Amino acid sequence: MEILHTAAALQAYTENCRRAGLRLGLVPTMGALHEGHLQLVRAAAQACDVVIVSIFVNPTQFNNADDFRLYPRLPQADADLLAPAGCTVLFLPSVEEMYPHAAVLRFDFGALERVMEGAHRPGHFNGVATVVSKLFHLSRPHQAYFGQKDWQQVAIVRQMVMDLGFDLELVSFPTVREADGLAMSSRNRRLPAEARAAAPRLYAALQLAAEQLTRGASAAAAQAAAAAYIGQEPAFSLEYLEIADAHTLQPIHVWVPGQAVVVCLAAQVGGVRLIDNIVLLPEQQAVGAA
Ligand code: PAF
Repeated sequence: MEILHTAAALQAYTENCRRAGLRLGLVPTMGALHEGHLQLVRAAAQACDVVIVSIFVNPTQFNNADDFRLYPRLPQADADLLAPAGCTVLFLPSVEEMYPHAAVLRFDFGALERVMEGAHRPGHFNGVATVVSKLFHLSRPHQAYFGQKDWQQVAIVRQMVMDLGFDLELVSFPTVREADGLAMSSRNRRLPAEARAAAPRLYAALQLAAEQLTRGASAAAAQAAAAAYIGQEPAFSLEYLEIADAHTLQPIHVWVPGQAVVVCLAAQVGGVRLIDNIVLLPEQQAVGAA
C-alpha cells in the first residue's frame, strides 16, 4: 500500500492508472476506521483494480470547534487496517494541502439540505461537497463508496455528481452495526461507558418508529412514540427525529404505500453527537397497512 500526502502525487498516480486502463475506486473517510469503512474498502477492492482511501478530518464540515478538535485521529492504526482490506493507496493530506486557500465557492443543495443535518449543522454540507468534489477531481474514480449511516450525505453527494456531471458511479452500503444495534461510528470511541451502554436505544427508537409506520400509524404518531422512548433515557438529548421520503428527504405526514421512507435522528449521548437512520423500502411495508 502506498501512502501519498500531496494532491500532486495523488493526481499523478491516478493519471498513470487511468492511462494503464485500470479501474479506480475511492473511499473517502475521516479516519478512526471501523468495520463499516472496511466493508466499503473490501467492496471497492472486489470491483476495482486500484482502491484509494482518503483520510482527512475536514475542518470545513465541522460547525463545532470541539467536535473537530476531539474527532479521533489514528492514522497508524488506520493504515494497519487498510492494507489487508485491499487498499492500494492511502491519501493522507494536510489541511494546507487540501485548502491552499480558503474556498470561496458555496454549494446550495436547496430542499435536500434544509432538513436534518443541513438544518442543524449550518455549512456542514457545503464543507462536505467542497472536500468530496476536490477528492473526486484529484482521484478521478470510476466508483466512489459511501456508507448509508450518513443517509443525507449520500443524497447530497448523489445530487452533486448529477449536477456537476462527475463521470463516476456512486455506490452506497447499508449501515454496519455493533451486536447490540449501535451504528458503527468513529465517534463511538468517545462515548463514556454509561453513554455507550445506553446508546443502542437510539436504534431501538428507530425500529419502534418503523414498526409503527408499517402498522399504519401516522408519521407524527410514530415520531412521537420514538421521541418519547428516547426521552426516557436521561443520557440522551434528542436534536431531531424525522420521518421523510427516502429520496427527497422531505417530511412525510401520511404513509403512502410503495414510498421508500427514511427515519433519521441525531442525538447528544454523553456529550457525543450521534446520528442514525433506518430505511423502509416499499417491499418491507405491510400490504394494505394504510
Ligand atoms: O462521511 C465522512 O466521513 C465525511 O463526511 C467525508 C465523506 C469523508 C467527507 O469529509
